[in-house]
Amino acid sequence: MSREIRITPSILNADFSNLDLEIKRIAASSDLLHLDVMDNIFVPNFTFDFARSAEIIADCPIGVDAHLMVAEVDQIAPAYAEAGCASVTIHVEATSNIPMTAKAIRKAGARCGLGIKPGTSIEDYADFVDEIDMFLIMTVEPGFGGQKFMYDMIEKLRKTRVIIGDRPIWLQVDGGVSLETISAAAEAGADTFVAGSAVFNAEDPAAMIESLRALAVSEAR
Ligand code: DX5
Ligand code: ZN
Repeated sequence: MSREIRITPSILNADFSNLDLEIKRIAASSDLLHLDVMDNIFVPNFTFDFARSAEIIADCPIGVDAHLMVAEVDQIAPAYAEAGCASVTIHVEATSNIPMTAKAIRKAGARCGLGIKPGTSIEDYADFVDEIDMFLIMTVEPGFGGQKFMYDMIEKLRKTRVIIGDRPIWLQVDGGVSLETISAAAEAGADTFVAGSAVFNAEDPAAMIESLRALAVSEAR
């Protein structure tokens, strides 16, 4: 049975001074908009505070998949769900209470994702599989777009796919996803793909999203 494939482009490498237009260029081809929220504490970069994030979420013509790379994630994650996000991802390296925050996100009407940095093992978090809606496997060190895909994360994708089994849990891959790397990620079991620089550096971002989708669909058969 072939897996449903989702492309969730990141705006991290888009033109922030023209964000409405940049989002409009890709919305029709995307399943969700991946919003990378960085606080310059959990990662050495800053993108959006909550007020700006809430504006982007409110104006976005499609659902928003918030990727919270913030230190105070247990305190702010529920507010992202209440602001209307379709999905809110918290990092295992930032939260101090996965069940509590996952429950709060879901209660506020959003799906809950669990983010795993490259240096973190997935085995330690397998027990939370029935309390979340998605695993986000980072294939770069979080903080910046345009980095190289880490092929040594492929094994972790395979293990995560086994942990998920036949549950309706999404397996998202984030970092360095491109025409060259998406097939290996899909073959290893990913079904939800973040692409930032591959999309916004392309001549035609919408066409790039469709090309990425076609490659992932053909692998996931
Ligand atoms: C990095 C972010 C990613 C990144 C993806 O910390 O979580 O979403 O923006 O950008 P690319 O696809 O350029 O690696
Ligand atoms: Zn991200």
